Amino acid sequence: MPHFTSTPPWQALLAHRDALAGARLRDLWQRDGARGAALTFSCAGIAVDLSKQRITAETVQLLAALARDRGVAPAIEKLFTGERVNVTENRPALHTALRGDEHVSVDGHDLYPEIQRNRERMRVFAEAVRAGQWKGATGRAFTHVLALGIGGSALGPKLAIEALRADADGPEVRFVINIDAAEFDDAIDGLDPASTLVVVASKTFTTQETMVNAVAAREWLVAALGEGALAKHVVAATANIAAAANFGLPECNVFPFAEGVGGRYSLWSSVGLPVAIAVGMAKFEQMLAGAHAADLQVRSDPLERNVPVLLGLVAAWNRNALGMPTHAVLSYASRLESLPAYLQQLEMESLGKRVDTSGAPVDFHTSPVVWGGTETPGQHAFHQWLHQGTEPASCDFIVVARPMGEKRIHHEILLSHACAQSEALMNGVAASDPHRACPGDRVSTTFVLPQLDAYHLGALLAIYEHKVYVLATLWGINAFDQFGVELGKTIAAQVLPAVRGANVPLHPATQHLLDVIRKLGDSR
Ligand code: F6P
Repeated sequence: MPHFTSTPPWQALLAHRDALAGARLRDLWQRDGARGAALTFSCAGIAVDLSKQRITAETVQLLAALARDRGVAPAIEKLFTGERVNVTENRPALHTALRGDEHVSVDGHDLYPEIQRNRERMRVFAEAVRAGQWKGATGRAFTHVLALGIGGSALGPKLAIEALRADADGPEVRFVINIDAAEFDDAIDGLDPASTLVVVASKTFTTQETMVNAVAAREWLVAALGEGALAKHVVAATANIAAAANFGLPECNVFPFAEGVGGRYSLWSSVGLPVAIAVGMAKFEQMLAGAHAADLQVRSDPLERNVPVLLGLVAAWNRNALGMPTHAVLSYASRLESLPAYLQQLEMESLGKRVDTSGAPVDFHTSPVVWGGTETPGQHAFHQWLHQGTEPASCDFIVVARPMGEKRIHHEILLSHACAQSEALMNGVAASDPHRACPGDRVSTTFVLPQLDAYHLGALLAIYEHKVYVLATLWGINAFDQFGVELGKTIAAQVLPAVRGANVPLHPATQHLLDVIRKLGDSR
């Protein structure tokens, strides 16, 4: 299949871009005061305002034509029906099956009963822990969960637990993500092993950081409670049941999920166990329901009104037609502080590719750099760059309509800033002093959640997942592999013996760096 860059719909879009070139965003608003309503769409209760993008109704039509040409709708069907959309690993991508109610089959094998069984086991366990029925080895109920995992095995659960803090009435969850002793020590500080449950989340159950942390947690438990306590205190969420068994976990402590569920798409599986323990299985299932509502819409809405499809199309427009190298996620909600990091993995690990599905190099840019922060603190830090820096960035504003706390004034001010920033980025300001002038014309999308709850969080994350899949389909790349991360892991395994003092041959640059580190480490 030729790359999208050589197709007639894309050529039409480039001609349209050139025709629009003289018009600034504020001109588009002046020309058509109704563009707000015309370019605001809805998905699973979330409003998505695209009216501050450099698009018109005609752009939407042209983008939809591109989507048709690239087979976006059939590709979405393939995702939902268990086809092997992860072509390089010859696997389906099964995250939507985890939150749906359809009998998805792979090679004639119906996955539905297994998914339901796994979810039921998760429910029984999470509720037993919450109710104090599943007790620690000394008979005490669990007050804390130590959640171990990295990447997709941590980012989603951490985000969800923070976002749903208002609903968190179960044991407190602390994460250990990094291979940094300080992080482990900080997490266990003040914890009593007798009332701490350890959840090891790792799809492969081989990830070095997680496994070393798991061993450290096991030692911490054994030192206090003895070997026999482990069966009560350690459980796993994994696709590698055998490795979890080798680690010493009895079968009933292992909560499995299918190999076809990608790590960064695994929040919906047993990887979400810490979420279910923190907020309850009912809330966890509301999150699945919100995601499922977005799934239903991405499958059925017409392309011209299909939120995830439009987001993918506009992202390609910004990246490939308007040349934007970065994309900022601006969360106007402190409890969504981890959203930029979550989306950074989702988008950059999925779309940071340089060859198409056939292995041929692409002739266009793929994933922008995805970054961002919590607002309004970001306004006092990097927004200067957004307003007056030399490169444009596209922005996603995430806004929650209803107050997220008791103090109304806080919410009113928060909303005023969210609205003001996207206006300021769009309109800019002229000034006789060039230091004070802002060029404006910075594009943004605003997502408005009615409230920050499990349903809308699930919907928001599913919308982004589908945006990523749509982009991958347009670009003809595989969103579900991540081979690029392997090289660093391999080299780290070669360097580790040298760090420990062995005399092993290293690249001179690495040897030099290690010498510098050693010198400083020894200079006390
Ligand atoms: O190193 C990348 C990665 O494979 C991610 O894709 C994944 O989310 C993370 O590591 C953790 O992997 P696992 O769940 O297998 O420990």
